[in-house]
Formats: sequence, structure tokens, C-alpha cells
Amino acid sequence: MSLDLAVLVSGSGSNLQAILDAIEAGRLDARVRLVVSNVAGVKALDRAARASVPTLVVPHKDYPNRAAFDAHLVEVLRPVVADGFVVLAGFMRILTATFLDAFPRRVLNIHPSLLPAFPGVDAQQQALDKGVRITGCSVHLVDAGTDTGPILAQAAVPVLDGDTRDTLAARILEQEHAILPAVLQWISEGRMQLVDGRPRFSGVVPALGLAR
Ligand code: GRF
Repeated sequence: MSLDLAVLVSGSGSNLQAILDAIEAGRLDARVRLVVSNVAGVKALDRAARASVPTLVVPHKDYPNRAAFDAHLVEVLRPVVADGFVVLAGFMRILTATFLDAFPRRVLNIHPSLLPAFPGVDAQQQALDKGVRITGCSVHLVDAGTDTGPILAQAAVPVLDGDTRDTLAARILEQEHAILPAVLQWISEGRMQLVDGRPRFSGVVPALGLAR
């Protein structure tokens, strides 16, 4: 059965594009029912419109607090992803229990580090500052912490001599674009189970290697 998705964005939306491209190419059996941005005028909204996906701008500044913002998001998203998943793809807001309790274990995030290393903002710069030789990206289920939920998939990316934040971020993004649609397809195939709160995938899960 095709997986219903809502994608939350705040910026460029290249991960949204990767999802849309995978659907278009038949690699992902899913439908993006709605794209919600908390920021008006961002490129992600153009990408959605180009793919004829409905969009909505919900500026967080219009709400007195996080819970009120989250409650409105729940109201908007519940009808479109009744059985589906919410994907945070570059969504730069922390979600509260108001949101997470409405979609238990059905909110996914993509983060540009090998979690649990470098949670929070600018994970690529954090990796450079620490001098690690390998970093990468992670797809995980969202819980109440910041980038702490159960990890579903990761890909490793070497830090090269002379890397800047931007060159490293670009190479990590390539891997984000591979692993996010792949995980969604595994979920769409009904291959994800939670055992004691930890995700397990049945069937063949392709190894996601070290990517230069
Ligand atoms: C990605 O690096 C993602 O891991 C992080 O924010 C960035 C979003 O990029 N959460 P894009 O908007 O998908 O291009």
C-alpha cells in the first residue's frame, strides 16, 4: 500500500526533492500529500508546487508558544497522514509532545551527522571543529530529545583535507538523498517493526557504505 507522507521543511528542500524524485522514478511507493513550511518563500515550496504537491505556510511566529504552533500543525496534518508518516526534512523547529504524541513513532528526521555524534545545529561544522575523519548522516525516529530518537539508517562520509563546512555539507547531502527515500521505501513495504522501542527491518537491507 502506498505510504502517505507529509513533509515539513524550512529551507532548500533538497531532501524533499529526493523523495519526490524517488516516487517519480518508481523507487518509492509513497505519496507526498502535503508540504508544510514554517518559513514563507523558501525553495522547498517551489519544489513541491512543481510536483503539484499542496503546500501550506504556517509561520511559527504567529503562535504564542511552541505547543500552540504544534497543536495547529497536528490539526492540519492529522487528516492527511492518518496512517502515514511525517518527515522532517530540514525543518528547523523543535517539536513538542503535543505533536509527537499525535503521531507516535511516525515522525522521521534526517540529520547531517552519524548520531549520537553532533546533534543540534550545524552538525557539519561541529564535525570539522572536532577534527573527526568520518562523519555522515542519520535517519531516525523523532522523540522528545534533540536528534536522540531510534536510528533507522546511516551513511558514512569521510572528512577530506581542505573540506569547508559547505563542501562537507554537500557530500553529506548526497548521502542524505540516498538513505531517506530508501528508509521510506522499507517502511512502505511494511518491513519496519519496533522491538522494545528499537527499529528492526525484515528482509534485505542494502549496506550503505562509505561514500566519497
Ligand atoms: C539537511 O542537511 C538535513 O540533514 C538537515 O537540514 C538540511 C536540509 O537540507 N536537517 P534540505 O532543505 O533538505 O536541502
